[in-house]
Amino acid sequence: MHNHVKKILITQDQIIEKTKEIAQQINEDFKGERITLVALLSGSVPFLAELMKHIKLDCEIDFMDVSSYRGTKSTGEVRILKDLTRPIDSCNVIIVEDIVDTGKTLNVVKGILENRDPKALKIVTLLDKPEGREVDCYADYVGFSIPNEFVIGFGLDYDELYRNLPYVGVLREECYM
Ligand code: IMP
Repeated sequence: MHNHVKKILITQDQIIEKTKEIAQQINEDFKGERITLVALLSGSVPFLAELMKHIKLDCEIDFMDVSSYRGTKSTGEVRILKDLTRPIDSCNVIIVEDIVDTGKTLNVVKGILENRDPKALKIVTLLDKPEGREVDCYADYVGFSIPNEFVIGFGLDYDELYRNLPYVGVLREECYM
C-alpha cells in the first residue's frame, strides 16, 4: 500500500467484480443497440478501460475534458477543455465518470450533451459521495457509495498524483497541502 494512503476503501478485485456487474446491466438495458461511452478525462480512464472490456454491444468511445471551478469558490462553473470528436445526435450515450460529489460537473456536462439530441443519455460512475451533493444529480449506474472522505486511486487524483494506484484509498490528512 502507498504510504500516503490511510486505508484501502475498495480493492482492485472489488472494483473489477462490480464493474462487470454494471457492464452486464448496460448490456441488458441496451440489448441490440449501439452505444457511445463518453469518458470525462482524466479520472474516469481506468474505470472506462475496465468497463468496456465487459461490454458486449457495439460500442464507441469518446472523451471530454472539463474543468470545474471548485475549491474556495465552488461556483460549479464548468469550462470545456476538450470536446467530443464526433456528434452524438441519435446516439445512446453513457457518460462515464469517476466520482460524483457535489454533482455540479455532471449536471453541466449532462445539460451540454442533452442539447445535442442523443437518443438516450445515461450516467455511470464508479463512486458516489451522496453526502457531498449540492445540486440534484443522480447516476443511472453506481459502483460504490462512499462516505464523504477524500479518496485517491483508480483514476482519482490529489494534485494530479495517485491516479495509477490499482485500488481506491483514503488519502492521509497530512498529505493535503
Ligand atoms: P463534483 O462536480 O463536485 O461532483 O465533482 C466531481 C469531480 O470532483 C470528480 O470528477 C473528481 O475529479 C473530483 N472529486 C470529487 N471528490 C473527489 C475525491 O474524493 N477524490 C478525488 N477527486 C474528487
